[in-house]
Amino acid sequence: MTALSVSTSAAASLRADALVIGVAKGPKGIVLAPGAEAVNEAFEGKLAEVLSTLGATGAEGETVKVPSAAGLKAALVLAVGLGEAAEDGYELEALRRAAGVAARTLAGSKKAALVLPAESAEEIEAVALGGLLGSYAFGTYKGNGNGKEPVGELVLLAARKGSKDAKAAVERAAVVGEEMNRARDLVNTAPNDLNPKSFAAIAQAAGKEHGLKVEVLDEKALVKGGFGGLLGVGNGSVNPPRLVKVAYTHPKAKATLAFIGKGITYDSGGISLKPAGHNETMKCDMAGAAAVFAAVVAAKRLGLAVNVTGWLALAENMPSGSATRPGDVLKMYGGKTVEVLNTDAEGRLVLADAIVRAGEENPDVIVDVATLTGAMVLALGNRTFGVMANNDDLRETLHTLAGEAGEQSWPMPLPAELRKGMTESTIADLANMGDRMGGGLVAGLFLKEFVAEGIDWAHLDIAGPAFHEGAPFGYTPKGGTASAVRTLVRFAERTAAGDKA
Ligand code: BES
Ligand code: MN
Ligand code: ZN
Repeated sequence: MTALSVSTSAAASLRADALVIGVAKGPKGIVLAPGAEAVNEAFEGKLAEVLSTLGATGAEGETVKVPSAAGLKAALVLAVGLGEAAEDGYELEALRRAAGVAARTLAGSKKAALVLPAESAEEIEAVALGGLLGSYAFGTYKGNGNGKEPVGELVLLAARKGSKDAKAAVERAAVVGEEMNRARDLVNTAPNDLNPKSFAAIAQAAGKEHGLKVEVLDEKALVKGGFGGLLGVGNGSVNPPRLVKVAYTHPKAKATLAFIGKGITYDSGGISLKPAGHNETMKCDMAGAAAVFAAVVAAKRLGLAVNVTGWLALAENMPSGSATRPGDVLKMYGGKTVEVLNTDAEGRLVLADAIVRAGEENPDVIVDVATLTGAMVLALGNRTFGVMANNDDLRETLHTLAGEAGEQSWPMPLPAELRKGMTESTIADLANMGDRMGGGLVAGLFLKEFVAEGIDWAHLDIAGPAFHEGAPFGYTPKGGTASAVRTLVRFAERTAAGDKA
């Protein structure tokens, strides 16, 4: 993992493979971002001109390399584009993305210095987090020489290194960055290696390392407890389901949050098998559980004054002679019955069990995170998750916090009339499918049925942003993205600070 440090050294005297500066689009050509002054001096004030000659425009995501000038101790200057020039400070997301692009571009080198705008604690945190996320590489299955090593060390240049808020900012970036990278690793691990049992074992080991209480219900305990949703989905697989509880408690906590993650380690669709073209990326169907686990560990590492219980609903959805059939009726945890009309609508079944179980502990708020529906991807695209809730304020809060944390989300409704399609014409209390139109909202309405009276609940459908299939951009690599981790951490921080949803 890339090491991150902060230094107050002058850019000119820093020994590194590369100095990273920011450039932006000004009204009259490219401009250098704050921080680059000393580097510019080494170029006799002509750095913008030099870069422009090389084709730099300052566009977001652009990178231009220049051999260093005399007087600098780094061999290379890397200019990264920040987009439009900003008079009164760059947007934090622009800084995160630029640092991410720089870190990825410099993969293979030992040491890079980030000489980007880093005046305020918030800016320092953004540059640090972007750098850590951009240096991520998933190397588990790559042979030697097949892919560059991530940049070894990132040094962030910041004048106010020693101040208390700057220190906290770097610490927070390190925790959030490392935990997001943990979630990415879990998502990227191949489904023949990550199954409910191995995921639970990883959670147990990491929980132990960080002083969290981890309890695992195996298939026997699930049968004994009557977890019909988890068992019904896991039936078809040789890898039986698990329900994992990860508890973080703080002595001064005034509130308890329950985070629930969909953890389908592979979603083939089951008997309602997905066609080719739809199952190649379905190892990502546990991204909600990965995000929840990472967020609980982050809450612990940050020492937040709030109790956070994570619930990982883990199962593998496979077709076989023992698999649940379309037409089967499951008795869910808590007693409700569900007619399974489509075995590919499995996420809501494992989540329903976990929501009822989490509700028994009477948390103040439940937030579930799930790669739940293709319909949400059709509605919002690949970079935005949907936020639904049984409480308008909570939905707005999560949407706002997501934006502050650098995650794109959008509030979605739970229209009452869509409930009918799941309750009429079924022999059970509910069907696991309803109207095709508004499928993402139907799934949300299904989950809502399992939330105990009086508990605030929100649902994040991350099916779009959880897994990135295109070329890397900003600090987002190919594969697992760690979608929703930052939103959950921010929500826990906000709750710890005493703000009600
Ligand atoms: N895991 C999928 C949803 C998904 C789709 C996640 C694309 C990530 C990317 C989920 O289990 C699923 O198959 N949902 C069905 C529900 C339908 C059968 C009611 C869907 O959205 O098609
Ligand atoms: Mn499915
Ligand atoms: Zn699924």
